[in-house]
Amino acid sequence: MATEIPPQLTMADIDLGDLRFWTRPLEERAEAFAVLRAQPAPVLFTLPKIPFLGQSPGSWALVRHADVAEASRNPEVFSSEPSATSPADMPRWMDGYFNSMIDMDDPRHAKIRRIVSRAFSPKMLAKAEDDIARRAARIVDELIEAGGGDFVSRAAARLPVEVICDMLGIPARHHRRVVDLTNIIVGYSDAEYVGATVEYSRGTARMGRLGTLRMLGTVASAGFRLHRLAAQLGRERRASPTGDLTSALVNANVDGERLSPREFAAFFLLLVVAGNETTRNAIAHGLKLFTDHPDQRDLLLADFDGRIAGAVEEIVRYSSPVISMRRNLTRDHEMNGHTFRKGDRVTLLYWAANRDESVFTDPDRFDITRSPNPHVGFGGPGPHFCLGANLARREITVMFRELFTRLPDITAGEPDRLQSGFINGYKRLPCTFTPPRPRG
Ligand code: HEM
Repeated sequence: MATEIPPQLTMADIDLGDLRFWTRPLEERAEAFAVLRAQPAPVLFTLPKIPFLGQSPGSWALVRHADVAEASRNPEVFSSEPSATSPADMPRWMDGYFNSMIDMDDPRHAKIRRIVSRAFSPKMLAKAEDDIARRAARIVDELIEAGGGDFVSRAAARLPVEVICDMLGIPARHHRRVVDLTNIIVGYSDAEYVGATVEYSRGTARMGRLGTLRMLGTVASAGFRLHRLAAQLGRERRASPTGDLTSALVNANVDGERLSPREFAAFFLLLVVAGNETTRNAIAHGLKLFTDHPDQRDLLLADFDGRIAGAVEEIVRYSSPVISMRRNLTRDHEMNGHTFRKGDRVTLLYWAANRDESVFTDPDRFDITRSPNPHVGFGGPGPHFCLGANLARREITVMFRELFTRLPDITAGEPDRLQSGFINGYKRLPCTFTPPRPRG
């Protein structure tokens, strides 16, 4: 159903390929997506020309809930190959570092996913519950000792990285390095992480050759260093398996063969990136949302156990930590008034679908009692639906239980946002609270 176009913004003001769009205030972006959803058909946007990568042919923006769901559940037409994660085609030499099952179609994708999927089942996660709670308690102890400060590095980023590293058997001394390297990989469009970014002047965008080389070199080097860590751990686990995910991956048998060293390391990299760069932002967004909506915090505190599950879903819907993924058309296909051609690219904008007014009543309202809440923050229904969704739900729940039990008045200041059309991230988020009385 077409919606009324808000009068403030017009199509001429909206260019999703312009990185500056992703630095606009969230309310403005929400308004822009309402304009896009009201168009009679999907809109094509182009990426700036990047030296060495060639000109991107452009990508069709899927902004309606129904379109994102249809593309997700129809992988024969909307393929994840050659890439689901990179908006532009990367040089081929980089594929080996980053292309993993998220960029594959079935049957290979399903076989590889099966190697680790049991570890993410509700039954296995229930066993890890006490361990996650102990970690959250220690992290909040240390936040209290520090007296506040940056909530992202002191709290939100720590739980997810500790948990996924522990599942993979990565020793604690490497955790800081893992965070630094995965920050670079998802922060490829933010100058703070890669030392260069697209420049815009008089309506045109460009990335200089030197800037591109610096960006590609920094990202590739981060990938290489994570591959080296994977290779070192993989050698140890091949010799003596321990039951962790790395042992499962290096000893797995897929169609009578082991994963190649590159396939194994790329899967390892996918798990450390997806396991920590997403949930951290959900936790940080959650704190900011409860700061900006004190009525919702009061509601939650009045019945934490009864409302936390709904609150977690609403945090993920409202903040959509993963903004988008890519798909590639395998044949001509008609959808929503438009005929896509074989070879076309589409961008599934989860953020926009999660504000679709034809599915969510009053979509710009943060409402922890929203029911039903069929958001696509963990992806649409289909083979690539987030493998770690149950783990993320547990981590967010446990973290807010610990925070709100001990620091019920903790509040967030203004965030420093990641410049990205892929991850809706907070690089830093100041927090303050009344120190609790010492225990005992
Ligand atoms: C709030 C936190 C999280 C959000 C919002 C999120 C979101 C997503 C999204 C949107 C996708 C793509 C789905 C698709 O293409 O259909 C995805 C895939 C994936 N996620 Fe998550 N994720 C989160 C946490 C995690 C965690 C904790 C892990 C743990 C390792 C994880 C592992 C993965 C993996 C491995 C995939 C690829 C699945 C496949 O290709 O079969 N995610 N996630």
